[in-house]
Formats: sequence, C-alpha cells, structure tokens
Amino acid sequence: MEHFDAIILGAGAAGLMSALTAGQRGRRVLLLDHADRPGKKILISGGGRCNFTNIQAVPDRFLSSNRHFAKSALGRYTAQDFLDLVERHRIAWHEKTLGQLFCDGSSRQIVEMLLDECARGNVDVRCEHRITSIEKPDDFHVTTDRGIFAAPSVVIATGGPSIPKMGATGFGYDIARQFGLKVVEPRPALVPLTLAGEDMVFRGLSGIAVDSITRCNGAHFREASLFTHRGLSGPAILQISSYWRHGDTITMDMLPDRDAAAMLLDTKRARPRVQIHTLLGELLPDRLAELIREPLGLKGELANIPDKALRTAGERLNGWRFVPNGSEGFAKAEVTVGGVDTAGLSSQTMEARKVPGLYFIGEAVDVTGWLGGYNFQWAWASGVAAGQVA
Ligand code: FDA
Repeated sequence: MEHFDAIILGAGAAGLMSALTAGQRGRRVLLLDHADRPGKKILISGGGRCNFTNIQAVPDRFLSSNRHFAKSALGRYTAQDFLDLVERHRIAWHEKTLGQLFCDGSSRQIVEMLLDECARGNVDVRCEHRITSIEKPDDFHVTTDRGIFAAPSVVIATGGPSIPKMGATGFGYDIARQFGLKVVEPRPALVPLTLAGEDMVFRGLSGIAVDSITRCNGAHFREASLFTHRGLSGPAILQISSYWRHGDTITMDMLPDRDAAAMLLDTKRARPRVQIHTLLGELLPDRLAELIREPLGLKGELANIPDKALRTAGERLNGWRFVPNGSEGFAKAEVTVGGVDTAGLSSQTMEARKVPGLYFIGEAVDVTGWLGGYNFQWAWASGVAAGQVA
C-alpha cells in the first residue's frame, strides 16, 4: 500500500486545481483518474478554446438547493485569480461576450497550465486507474485495479454523469451515499430540449436561430434560441433548461425589446395594405416568419385582420409557449443540476461535516453555474477551497 497526505479522485478541472493547491502547500498528493488522460472535458470545452471563467461569476448565477453555499469559495477564489494564473502562463485570451473568457489558442493550454502547476507541487498524477472501493478503517484506503493507496484526506472530484461516453459517472454520488451524505436528485442541465405534438410545428426550422428571451420558473435569459429537428437548443434554451422540470412551460419572446401587439396595431394603421407575411418577414428570420403564420392564424392584408387577432398574435410573439416533452438527457447535457447535498458539506472547505478528511468538489456537488464559464469557475474555486486544507 502506498501512502500519501491527500488522494484526489478525478483529474478534471476541480481535481487538477485541488491537487495543485494541496501539492504547492507541500502535501504529498496523488491524483487518480480512470480516463487515459487528465482534463478531457476541459479539452473539448468552449468549442476547443475553453471558456475558462466568467468575469461576472457572482453567486446568484449558480443553482443549488442552498443558494448561499457557493458564496464563500467563489468569494475567496475569483475569476480574476484564475485570470492571473492564465496570464502568468502567458496564455492569450479574449472576452467573447457576456463576460465569457476564452483562450485565443486552444483548451490544451489550460490543461498544460494545470499540469505544469501540479508538477510544481510534485503531484503524482496517475491515469487509467479504475477505483473499486473506498474504505475508512483509520485513514482512507482507495482500492484500484492497480494497487491500494492510503491517505488521511480524500477529495472526490469525479464530476457528474453528463456525457457518459467521455467517462463521466455518478461515482461521487455513490461515495457520498456510502458515507451517509444525501444526494439532491441529479438532472441534465445546459441541455437541448425536445418537443412533440403541436410544438413540432417548428420542426421545419431546424438550424434557424432567433434573438430571444426565454423564461421558466422565475429565470430569464436574453440570448439566441435555436430550432433543431428534435426541438430547441442555443444558449437561451440551454440556460433555461437548467431551471426547467418535466411538465413546465417555457416561454420564448421572439421579439425582445418590442411590444409586438402594439407594433402590429401601429403598422396596421400606418401601412394597412401591407401583407402580414411581409411584415413578419421584416421582423423575423424568413423561414420562421413563413412558418409561424399558420399557428398565429393570420393571412392577407393587415387592414383585413381584426385588432383582436393582431393583439393575440403579438402577445404570442412576445411569449410563445412551449411545453417540452423532455431533454436530450445526460448524453448531451453540458452539466448536471443537483448532486452531493451541500447541507452535509462545509462551505469553507468542502469537507463532509460528519466524515473528517472526506471532501467533495466541482460538478459532483449540488452547485451548477450558468452557461459561459461559470462551471469552470466553480470547479476552480471549490478545488482551491478543498486544496487549501486537504
Ligand atoms: P470533470 O467532469 O471535469 O472531471 C471529472 C473527472 O473524474 C474526469 O477526468 C473523469 O474521467 C473522472 N472520473 C469520473 N468518474 C470516475 C471514476 N469512477 N473513477 C475515476 N475517475 C473518474 N464549463 C465552462 O465553464 N466553460 C466551458 O466552456 C464548458 N464547456 C463544456 C463543453 C462540454 C461539451 C461539456 C460536456 C461541458 C462543458 N463545461 C464547460 C462544463 C465543465 O466541463 C464542467 O463543469 C467541469 O468539467 C466540471 O469539472 P469537474 O472537475 O467537477 O468534473
């Protein structure tokens, strides 16, 4: 059996950050992963350019059963702290939109930076280790298919079940339950939604994007929505999907910034001879304008359409109602909402309150960020919080 000061399970964003933090404190750290290399999700993130943080990463942009839980870690390790690290490694970056920071070059630079920092902390990184059990006779004993390792601290950084084909598992939840912690029901999040029935009127629009405001359960997002052959995607839909549950309605404002009803009525007065399809074509992408006329029940010149019908149509354009019949599931979800219940963890250190030496960080925990670099910021911040004490 090999002995360490801390064993970190999962060499993803949170695990790498935690390992380098603990290692640079002089702790003897082992970082284990079952994948063939570290940081696989970082490599594919942000379309290969890694949206590594968001400069607006304030706690109310994170979902959790305890909305205060993430405050401490996020406050102590900020987006600027990670940016300073990126700059120390001379990685060129840019802000794309809405505070989202990306590498100019490649996500690989972020993984290399983290591995470089791990090497500075003498972290022992070992991939292709399948973990078969964790026991706590005194120290923790982590049994793998390639040996048994012991340490007084174990940090679980094995992420959530989103994208199983990349090696994602619910392993962290199993360990949490084994040690008596609760798990908040995990759900796919930042995920495309599927439609059926009359909502499928939009199927013909596959590939069309529209500037929109999506709303559900008190949340709203102003970004692009994308129609797909199975339903809805695009940033505004991915964002709202994290707030959506089966049976909920999502509304989509396809004409944000405009009172569509007032605008249709004003146009009727000013240009009564204009065909409704011409007017819709001036406001919406062509194919959407064409397709939407039927469910709106409008045709012909504005002069011949009753005000009431125009008002109703306008209200629908400002708040089209969809009731998704599902989502594309964990296979396509960027992240998982839910996870290890924060009630059992210290918000300062991520340590399990009832199991000294056991820590949970990153996506495994019931903290989920918005789309746009927030989830990596949580991985970095929670990784540092545990790495400072483990
Ligand atoms: P992560 O999933 O990164 O790491 C977990 C590690 O544990 C993996 O290396 C895995 O192999 C290992 N593991 C799992 N089970 C194990 C087991 N049983 N035994 C041993 N090892 C095990 N976020 C963001 O902020 N900006 C972005 O640009 C993107 N882009 C993006 C694109 C795509 C396609 C996806 C799927 C996700 C994103 N994300 C993102 C989300 C982001 O990738 C995610 O929030 C973090 O990777 C979570 O970091 P963790 O370290 O917690 O888990």
